Amino acid sequence: MTDASAEHRAARAMIETDALLGVSEVPLGRAGAAVVSADLPEEASRVPRPSAPVVETDDAPTSAPCGRGEPAIPSATLEGDSQAERLEALSVRHADACVHCVASTTHRNIVFGEGSPEASLMFIGEAPGEHEDRSGRPFVGPAGEKLDQMIKAMGFTREDVYIANVLKTRPPENRTPRPDEAKACGRWLASQIAVIRPKVLVALGGPAAQLLLETETGITRLRGAWGRYEVEDLSIPVMPTFHPAYVLRRYTPDVRAAVWNDLQLARDMAHAGD
Ligand code: URA
Repeated sequence: MTDASAEHRAARAMIETDALLGVSEVPLGRAGAAVVSADLPEEASRVPRPSAPVVETDDAPTSAPCGRGEPAIPSATLEGDSQAERLEALSVRHADACVHCVASTTHRNIVFGEGSPEASLMFIGEAPGEHEDRSGRPFVGPAGEKLDQMIKAMGFTREDVYIANVLKTRPPENRTPRPDEAKACGRWLASQIAVIRPKVLVALGGPAAQLLLETETGITRLRGAWGRYEVEDLSIPVMPTFHPAYVLRRYTPDVRAAVWNDLQLARDMAHAGD
């Protein structure tokens, strides 16, 4: 068996392990509030406190701060009466004018994003991978299957939420987005968020969290604590959590409990005021 097929089989086995990330209940503090223990260093003092350190090793602050940049297009100037029409108009303009995506020569399809144009909950990943590049849809490979489980565990369907990425075209060799790329494409993400107007953003992994929160801090420190994303007249709560691909790679009770904790906080925020 080749390494790749062994890895694929292992990934599939993990996806099939359980429906709700394998962790049905994690005691929570007040939604949105971290439970701080005097016994723990600051970076470890978020709920839940895992018994072993939960570290996303490849999320180290490797890049300079991304900086969000201004929205590429003010949402009010987009043609259309509905959010769906304005998103479609934005997608067309992005394909013509995104400095990053127009310059990219290695991708097959632009992966603009998909889901409800009026979603209260929006997930932001890193960039399309091979499966997404081929299909033009976000999160359709093994990480997408894990994200689907996460969405289901939160009580939503994929159609209820909106899924986008920092980059809308696949980087060569699936490398991590560079800050300049994240900034160029992130301006379009800002417009996208301004059109959709979600109640909560879930940042999946380091690059999304670093872009949205304008920080160099790694996801291991950021996750589980609320941040905010300001765009146009909006100030949207952001919940950073581990990327589903990382969950697949480190399918430990601690990682799953950490992610499930973060998702429950995001779910409660998405329902707030309903
Ligand atoms: N990983 C991401 O960050 N985004 C996708 O769309 C797929 C995998």
